[in-house]
Amino acid sequence: MDRNICSVNPSIILAVSRQIDEIQESGWNEAQILESLKGSRVRAKVAARIPAAESREARADGDLLGFVLARRIADVLEIDLVGVRHGSRRQGIARALLEALIEDENLDGPFEARLELAAANEPALCLYVRLAFVVVGRRTRYYPDGDDALLLSRQVSSS
Ligand SMILES: CC(C)(COP(=O)(O)OP(=O)(O)OC[C@H]1O[C@@H](n2cnc3c(N)ncnc32)[C@H](O)[C@@H]1OP(=O)(O)O)[C@@H](O)C(=O)NCCC(=O)NCCS
Repeated sequence: MDRNICSVNPSIILAVSRQIDEIQESGWNEAQILESLKGSRVRAKVAARIPAAESREARADGDLLGFVLARRIADVLEIDLVGVRHGSRRQGIARALLEALIEDENLDGPFEARLELAAANEPALCLYVRLAFVVVGRRTRYYPDGDDALLLSRQVSSS
C-alpha cells in the first residue's frame, strides 16, 4: 500500500480519532485523549495515504489509516494509544508507526518505552511482543470490565 508515516501536531490526533472508531475498542474516549494531549512533550504520528504535507493540515477526509500517541518525559516514552482502521489492519501500519516513533526518540538518547494494555487485547499484545516489548507487570482487574492490565516495557539504547 502507498502510505506515509509522519509526525503531526498532536492536536490533529483528536480530528483523526473522531474518524477511527477503533479507539472505542481500546477503551479510550475523547476526554482521555484530550487529557493525554496536554503538555509539551506529546508525540504524535499518523499513517496516511496522502502526502505528509497534506496530512499535517489535518485533512480528516478518510485517508488517515492509523496513528500513535505518546509522551516523552526524561528517559521514559509512555505510549498512550495506537489505532489502525479495521480495513487497514495486518498490513504493518502499527508496526511502522511504532518503529518510526522509537527511531525518532532514539535520537535523544537511550530511553525506556512503556505502556499499559488490557490483557485480553491479543492483537496489541502480539504487536508489542513482536516489537521486543516484554511484560513487566500485571494489575489484576484493573479495568471496569474486570480485565487485567499488563505493563509492557522495552529498553531502547542509542545505536
Ligand atoms: C493493535 C493494532 C493497533 C494493530 O495494528 P495493525 O496495523 O493491524 O498491526 P500490524 O499490521 O503492524 O501488525 C504487526 C504485528 O503485530 C501482530 N498482530 C497485529 N494484529 C494481530 C492480530 N489481530 N492477531 C495476532 N497478531 C497480531 C503480528 O505479529 C503482526 O505481524 P504480522 O502481520 O507480520 O504477523 C490494531 O489491531 C488496532 O487498532 N486495534 C484497536 C486499538 C487498540 O487496541 N490499540 C492498542 C491499545 S492502545
